[in-house]
Amino acid sequence: MLELNNVHFVYEAGQPPAVTGITFSVEPGDFVVILGRNGSGKSTLAKLMSGVIVPIRGTVRIMGLDTRERSHKRTIRRFVSLMLSDPENQIVSTLVEEDVAFGPENLGVPLEEIEHRVQEALASVGLTGYRNSSPRFLSGGEKQRLAIAGLLAIRTRYLVLDEPTAMLDARGRREVLAVLAQLNETEGIGVVMTSHRAEEMIWAKRVVILDEGQVRAIGYPKDIMGDEELLIASGIDPPPLSRLADALRRRGFQLPKPILTVEEMVKTLCQSV
Ligand SMILES: Nc1ncnc2c1ncn2[C@@H]1O[C@H](COP(=O)(O)OP(=O)(O)OP(=O)(O)O)[C@@H](O)[C@H]1O
Ligand SMILES: [Mg+2]
Repeated sequence: MLELNNVHFVYEAGQPPAVTGITFSVEPGDFVVILGRNGSGKSTLAKLMSGVIVPIRGTVRIMGLDTRERSHKRTIRRFVSLMLSDPENQIVSTLVEEDVAFGPENLGVPLEEIEHRVQEALASVGLTGYRNSSPRFLSGGEKQRLAIAGLLAIRTRYLVLDEPTAMLDARGRREVLAVLAQLNETEGIGVVMTSHRAEEMIWAKRVVILDEGQVRAIGYPKDIMGDEELLIASGIDPPPLSRLADALRRRGFQLPKPILTVEEMVKTLCQSV
């Protein structure tokens, strides 16, 4: 479990806190999307949740280990991995397979076991066919999936991803989100992902709305998606689909609240005409 209890963090004395009073936990197998506008504290929270920085007040516990305890650092690094939005910065090798092997090699994993993990991790993210390619020639979405494979190879239990889709086009975003959902479903990897795109919450089991360094709401995607007032007040554009639903309702269409997918919208509209 990742547990945050009344977490407070300031970068420089005298500045307002980057995050404050944050309390929530992420169970194994959970998929949490943290949504917030620019400067709301998403990156700070992602770093706190992966033990890269430690709280000034309050506690972050990762699998029961307090991140402030220096002796826990190595163990924590195996349990939780942080991934960033820039796909270019996460590549360390000239071959895809070497890139995935890098983490376990550093941990001193035996060679045969590394081979096994590389195969497994590349298959999990759908990159088996690129094993002997150069990462330079991969698309943005493929590079992000390669970075995820590298983290899987160190047998991470939780992936914390800070805006992993920010630099990708629509297809790249879908590819990465689908891989995360599948790892979460079939392998029980806990996923925590930050984003400023409201539509990405449909991939989550739970959503946290962050604003001015504080948690404004925690809920299921279907509830948060339907709460336009909350989204707008937190500086998050409601997803196009909920804006469309809203416009149709104003024209007198009877639509259930909320509608999460295009398929649901089509089905509902076909039934109502
Ligand atoms: N290294 C730093 N030094 C000083 N202040 C910082 C630093 N990093 C972030 N901050 C401040 O902390 C607050 C939260 O920033 P953070 O980067 O966590 O937000 P964010 O939600 O990730 O924003 P964005 O959407 O732009 O990535 C902001 O007010 C920001 O100016
Ligand atoms: Mg950020």
